[in-house]
Amino acid sequence: MKFSAPDWQKEIYLNGFAGILPQVNIDPALLEKNARRHMSRKAYAYIAGGAGHESTMLQNRQAFEKYSIVPRMLCDVSQRDTSITLFGQKIPSPFLLSPVGVLEMVHREADVAVARAAASIGIPYIFSNQASKPMESCAAVMNNSPRWFQLYWSRSNDLVASFVQRAERCGCSAIVVTLDTTMLGWRTRDLELAYLPFLQGKGIAQYTSDPVFQKMLDEPEDRVPVDRKITLQSIAGLFSMVKHYPGNNFIRKLKSGRAVRAVQKFTATYSNPATTWNDLAFLRQHTKLPILLKGILHPDDASKAIDYGLNGIIISNHGGRQVDGSIATLDALPAIANVVRKQIPIILDSGIRGGADAFKALALGATAIGIGRPYVYGLAIAGEQGVYTVLRNFMADFELTMALAGCKDISEITPERLQQNR
Ligand code: FNR
Repeated sequence: MKFSAPDWQKEIYLNGFAGILPQVNIDPALLEKNARRHMSRKAYAYIAGGAGHESTMLQNRQAFEKYSIVPRMLCDVSQRDTSITLFGQKIPSPFLLSPVGVLEMVHREADVAVARAAASIGIPYIFSNQASKPMESCAAVMNNSPRWFQLYWSRSNDLVASFVQRAERCGCSAIVVTLDTTMLGWRTRDLELAYLPFLQGKGIAQYTSDPVFQKMLDEPEDRVPVDRKITLQSIAGLFSMVKHYPGNNFIRKLKSGRAVRAVQKFTATYSNPATTWNDLAFLRQHTKLPILLKGILHPDDASKAIDYGLNGIIISNHGGRQVDGSIATLDALPAIANVVRKQIPIILDSGIRGGADAFKALALGATAIGIGRPYVYGLAIAGEQGVYTVLRNFMADFELTMALAGCKDISEITPERLQQNR
């Protein structure tokens, strides 16, 4: 195997023998703790936080404790294969990088560093609609490695179509429509700091780099200007908006007013709570790529996804950032797997923190697993290398769990490998 777990493990121990400890922590709790030191207060709140009391985040984790793996012995696991095939593409391990927006909050290179790390392993990277770098910049560093695009359905169908066309040109092999964020959840930590990065022009690079969005900025102002107190903070915010807007000439950018209009236009259009199942036909007309729905938690919605001709679903509660007190994704999985009956791939994310979590989700019917916050913590600590290390740790942990449980490959990870705890 190209990315063998024992080799990676040996490297860590041999480094230790030479007195070199891992820069990127292995333990997920320590990883978060260490990453926090590399982030501003606002960045940490934005990345780590969830909605309301954050009980969904807790549930996501606790759901994994409801199952135990029951290892089998003497199974000859000397030859192991952790690869899977998704939409015709072979990937070395059943992981994907879930879309995470506004990565510039944790590292200067943001999405591009993640793209490089993902490409060096061949793990698919799902570009976020709220990325800090245009999708073209990420695609440019990925060679032929798999990448998907995640879309938020905005109020402009022309913009939706433009994003999808760009994604196709960028070599994306699937479109993920995130359904659970028609509005921002009640994110306690961000509200406490009264901080939303988009208002500073962060996380809107897909928009400002888009020709349709640029045309929308030429349209007459559709908002009544609101009188706000001018403070040092608001001047800094304006400075940030202008800095983030494409182009090098700061003064010209400031004078044109487009940077401010871009933020206003973005906040007015970024999502459309009126979207329904019937709107998905529009997307189907605009792309031949597989379309997946992200945010599915109810078996009836999974059935509908199949009835409406969608090609996959992502069971996700957005890492607990949208509905507080929501069902955990692992708790939602068995009933969904039961109705999907392997007709379309099921990806699961939210709360995945190690190889055993991935094993349990696969055993209960997931096809692949999305990693969220942990790779962002790796990015905060050590940029591209940090993301790479987090991915290798996940892959090694998973491979060892699979083998030590007695499975040679993914097909052997079945529900019988688990016991439900009382
Ligand atoms: C997200 N997530 C997300 N999802 C999406 O579809 N588009 C996006 O732009 C974002 N942005 C985003 C930002 C931050 C800071 C976080 C933490 C998450 C959700 C993400 O794709 C994934 O569903 C969760 O991160 C999974 O949960 P865990 O593993 O982080 O607990």
